[in-house]
Amino acid sequence: MSGPDVFLPTCPSMAASLLPRSTYPRLIFAPLFSLQRDLLLPSSDRLVHVSSPIAAFNRRFRAQNSNNSADATVVAGDENYGNKRVISVTPSLYDYLLSNVREPEILKELREETATRRGSQMQAHPRRATVIPRLAWASSSRAGCASPRLAPRCAFDNTGQNQPQKDPRQVSPDQAQLLAMLVQILGAEKCIEVGVYTGYSSLAIALVLPESGRLVACERDMKSLEVAKRYYDRAGVSHKVDVKHGMAADALKSMIQKGESCSYDFAFVDAEKRMYHEYFELLLQLVRVGGLIVIDNVLWHGKVANPLVNDAKTVSIRNFNRSVMEDKRVSISMVPIGDGMTICRKL
Ligand SMILES: C[S@@+](CC[C@H](N)C(=O)[O-])C[C@H]1O[C@@H](n2cnc3c(N)ncnc32)[C@H](O)[C@@H]1O
Repeated sequence: MSGPDVFLPTCPSMAASLLPRSTYPRLIFAPLFSLQRDLLLPSSDRLVHVSSPIAAFNRRFRAQNSNNSADATVVAGDENYGNKRVISVTPSLYDYLLSNVREPEILKELREETATRRGSQMQAHPRRATVIPRLAWASSSRAGCASPRLAPRCAFDNTGQNQPQKDPRQVSPDQAQLLAMLVQILGAEKCIEVGVYTGYSSLAIALVLPESGRLVACERDMKSLEVAKRYYDRAGVSHKVDVKHGMAADALKSMIQKGESCSYDFAFVDAEKRMYHEYFELLLQLVRVGGLIVIDNVLWHGKVANPLVNDAKTVSIRNFNRSVMEDKRVSISMVPIGDGMTICRKL
């Protein structure tokens, strides 16, 4: 936690000097317990377009303490954007969104099995912890596509008791659905994934590839790959997936050396954040003109927008985002889905 979000309750006099009563009467006079929920969240918890930390705090406070329909919106802090009001995903709104995701039954099973793995949780992240645990699906039509239903999602901690899965490594179901749709829209035949883990996103892609399609799936962790391979088998898509066990950059370089440049339609990057620049450069060689490179975690739990957060991964992703923004070799769209994905189309 950092910035004004944190010091406000513990140092009210400093807050009062920074936030004039005329402008922020509700903020200053609000009882501390009503601020507590905000203050327990890291400043990066909301994906708000920030022009200044204080303005961001004020917007977030208003959004989270309002019970009317506006509580799911934020306003751009930069006046140049005309106070554009956009959706901010609250827990209830995200539940609603998830209830409109069609998740194939096999993906649901993989997601639930992954949740029981040791190490399936990264550092707890309050927003995801709030949002994700109420998710489950019931099966329905094509490929076991699901009509969603809300129920607890749990993992086992080392006491053997069920715990909500706090920050799963795999993409969220709505992200997987978008990835699959991008592959379908492209009519992709040849795809690459960098960072497979237990196979959730790669399976979502493989399921929509044509029979002749191929997904090169790069992952360094064999144990995770074993789970992924088991699910490729179960889903009947093993023949579409070419698993490359080892360091992803090595696999990509070897593909280039084998003359596979400009032959891939689609790539998804979801591995080591500090390697994003290198993956991107290699994939830019492998993907054809008009093909897509999709990068995950570009909003990094919102830390990229917080100038007070400067750890190595955050700085690396921030620098990567900047370089992609300026890269004339691709057109781009940064999408606030999951932890943020940038879709790059090779020009
Ligand atoms: C966030 S997880 C991937 C989740 C997966 N895309 C999904 O949605 O199910 C990141 C994975 O990247 C793998 N990884 C990290 N650095 C890697 C590298 N240099 N080469 C290959 N795999 C790597 C990790 O072992 C981990 O399994």
